[in-house]
Amino acid sequence: MSKKRKLPGGVDVVKVGDKIISLDGYLSKKSKPATKEEASTSTDTAQPAPSTTGSNGTGNEAKQKERDGTSKPLAKKPLNPSRWQKPRGTSGDGSGEYLKSRRELPLWNYQDEIRRVLRERDVLVVVGETGSGKSTQVPQFLYCEDWCQRRKVEVDDKEVFVGGMIAITQPRRVAATTLAYRVSREMGTPLNAQKNGGDSGSPALGNHQRGLVGYSVRFDHQVPRGTRVKFVTEGMLLQDLLRDPNLRQYSAIIIDEIHERSVDVDLLSGFLKQVLSGDKAGRGGVPLKVIIMSATADIGGIRRFFSDARDEETAIPSGESETESTHSGVEVLKIEGRQYPVDIIYSPKAVPDLQEALLKTIFKIHLHEPLPGDILAFLTGQEEIESVQKLIEEYAATLASNMPKVKVFPLFGQLSIEAQHEAFKPVKAAFTRKIVLATNIAETSVTVPGIRYVVDCGKAKVKEFRSRLGMESLLAKAISKSSATQRAGRAGRESAGKCYRLYTEETFDGLQPTDLPEILRNDVLGAVLTMKARGIDDVLSFPLMDRPSIESLEKALIHLHFLGAISGDGTITEMGRKMAFFPVSAPLGRVLLAAADPRYDCVLEVIDIIACITAGDDIFHQLQTEEVKEEVEEYRKELYRREGDLLTYLTTMQHYAAENSDRVGWCRQRRINVRNMRQAMNIRRQLRGLCMREKMLAEAPPPDPQPFAPIPPSQAETVVKCFMKGFALKTAMLAPDSSYITAHGKHVVAIHPSSVLHGQKKEAIMFLDHVFTQKNYAKKVSVIQANWIAEAFEED
Ligand SMILES: Nc1ncnc2c1ncn2[C@@H]1O[C@H](COP(=O)(O)OP(=O)(O)OP(=O)(O)O)[C@@H](O)[C@H]1O
Ligand SMILES: [Mg+2]
Repeated sequence: MSKKRKLPGGVDVVKVGDKIISLDGYLSKKSKPATKEEASTSTDTAQPAPSTTGSNGTGNEAKQKERDGTSKPLAKKPLNPSRWQKPRGTSGDGSGEYLKSRRELPLWNYQDEIRRVLRERDVLVVVGETGSGKSTQVPQFLYCEDWCQRRKVEVDDKEVFVGGMIAITQPRRVAATTLAYRVSREMGTPLNAQKNGGDSGSPALGNHQRGLVGYSVRFDHQVPRGTRVKFVTEGMLLQDLLRDPNLRQYSAIIIDEIHERSVDVDLLSGFLKQVLSGDKAGRGGVPLKVIIMSATADIGGIRRFFSDARDEETAIPSGESETESTHSGVEVLKIEGRQYPVDIIYSPKAVPDLQEALLKTIFKIHLHEPLPGDILAFLTGQEEIESVQKLIEEYAATLASNMPKVKVFPLFGQLSIEAQHEAFKPVKAAFTRKIVLATNIAETSVTVPGIRYVVDCGKAKVKEFRSRLGMESLLAKAISKSSATQRAGRAGRESAGKCYRLYTEETFDGLQPTDLPEILRNDVLGAVLTMKARGIDDVLSFPLMDRPSIESLEKALIHLHFLGAISGDGTITEMGRKMAFFPVSAPLGRVLLAAADPRYDCVLEVIDIIACITAGDDIFHQLQTEEVKEEVEEYRKELYRREGDLLTYLTTMQHYAAENSDRVGWCRQRRINVRNMRQAMNIRRQLRGLCMREKMLAEAPPPDPQPFAPIPPSQAETVVKCFMKGFALKTAMLAPDSSYITAHGKHVVAIHPSSVLHGQKKEAIMFLDHVFTQKNYAKKVSVIQANWIAEAFEED
């Protein structure tokens, strides 16, 4: 438990867990008057937040503005003090209700210009500060344009419809869904918020009603009839491209947050470049408009890339200014200004302990800044978030009763989408401050309502793939200037804000301007499969903004060949084509296809396992104390299987599906994440539907609940063998010194503590994930026999 004490010198300290944190100065009624210099740079100052008007910026802001454009106090906007008093979105007239705030966005004054450019050209790059209104406004400015209407055209002597919808891509599901909810309300046709716990208070559309806005992300879609603006993840649009290379249903594609440079966005850019430079015959002559947006993008590189698509010979001569607005068909529009200022506060000196500095800063804000004003803190990963959440809750419980309460929300990628949406809802309890602890999934694009203060730890976990080792690493690294700017931009969206950077200004100055594109550091297996499925035979000549190394492309080709996705001459096989269409990774797609083979015949079992592992983070909560362990393990015993984690997931899914009285209570008893189980059931339903359509299931599975029947050992063996079809390269053998050595690469690997096989010695293991964190770990592990490895390498 945390305790508040006094040091001999009269200094207040809090003991949180094993940390002693000084609150010197924080708890006094009045903070020490700070010098101007201190006020702008020290984390130890505590200035009350501006409560009614945005400031015109301190000297520090001006410096910041020069440096990264984060804090540009242009407009003086009054805050909306009634925001916390009246229930939001109650008028029902979404568009009218939001019109006033939309008019105040910097983007609003550029709408005619945006329309004009796109009437004349096919490609527009929009660069505007965070919160200026790019994602929410640009599609609304365009959907009524003449070129954006659906029309009937002739293609190959057949009448087809082309256009009518705008797709706007987001790097993450949470951004796509929350933006769709917001824009659907702004446009007056609110989406059904219940479905995902959206934050709307407005009367919502029923499932079959018409609406102007929708979204489509993996395993979750809400696309009302009549949708004109569809928020999608980049991966979903790639799937659309596989089905329809001409993207006939769309009039425009908006690539948002291009600076994130995910593998998917790079692939999309390449495909769009091909569509733009093609003859439009597949679209009956109707052009596709492409709009690229970001607050922190490398405009020059993007313009060069798309300019080539229109006009090779007039590409920008090197050395020419990159700020000129027009070039060979690609227009760049720079939007000036942001709605509210964000004051940047650096740490005066390097922080020796990030967690301590984070807790100090959060409580300093909490104890000194008035309500309303929620806090968004950026941490590196799930474990860090969970331990900080615990510490905050422990300490907050000891605060005096006249201090505001706190409510902490974690926000990381592995959480179920439903749990992620919790962080976006206003806290219901009065006199309570929301504290959102997020990884970089909240870094770009999102508006978390209520946030005024951002705390940036300056680090992020970066996934890197070492193709030579076939292993991923996930290590915390310093963020880029672009990320720091994006993080600061999560404040200052509804009112003036502050961003506390837990690093010095000098550290910021030394950060890389941007992050390395994912395609240069990640596994390109999925990317190569997508290219092959789209008919790109020579992946080396596909247009990419940055080209991965030949070595990693070759490794991917070999891996795909091993999976049976491409034949010996490099062409895609029927199996590869199907794998590309499945909404799961290529190896899991291979397993699913093998499951339908009569030799394995275990489609339903494989679906259950895949549903469980793609639903979110581990379905089993970690058990903290021995006492809890003892109690819970008693219940979990019936779920654990000696064959390993995959069979344990299967048994858990089957038990959960068989439970027909109290699924929530069942999960609670076993410390199982109920949200992930619900999501797993949803994925299971969708994968079953897909396998029915693909004729991989002969008949519809019986409806739930079915009585639980444990899978016999022989069938369990078949299921694990089926997974070997996708994961034979991820196997290891027990060495005489009791370590596991991978069959491919000969590396030492340890079974992760979260596995049911942790600490056990088996002849050989197969694992789905191979990750370096503190150690070289195998996760999602199953027991296999050594001879299965050789069998798996044999041709079908
Ligand atoms: N869910 C929401 N709740 C409250 N206000 C919102 C919400 N979404 C957007 N807004 C308001 O609309 C403004 C514009 O948001 P938008 O996402 O369009 O900005 P953006 O330019 O795309 O920013 P970024 O570069 O950070 O993605 C925000 O600053 C905020 O004032
Ligand atoms: Mg945006």
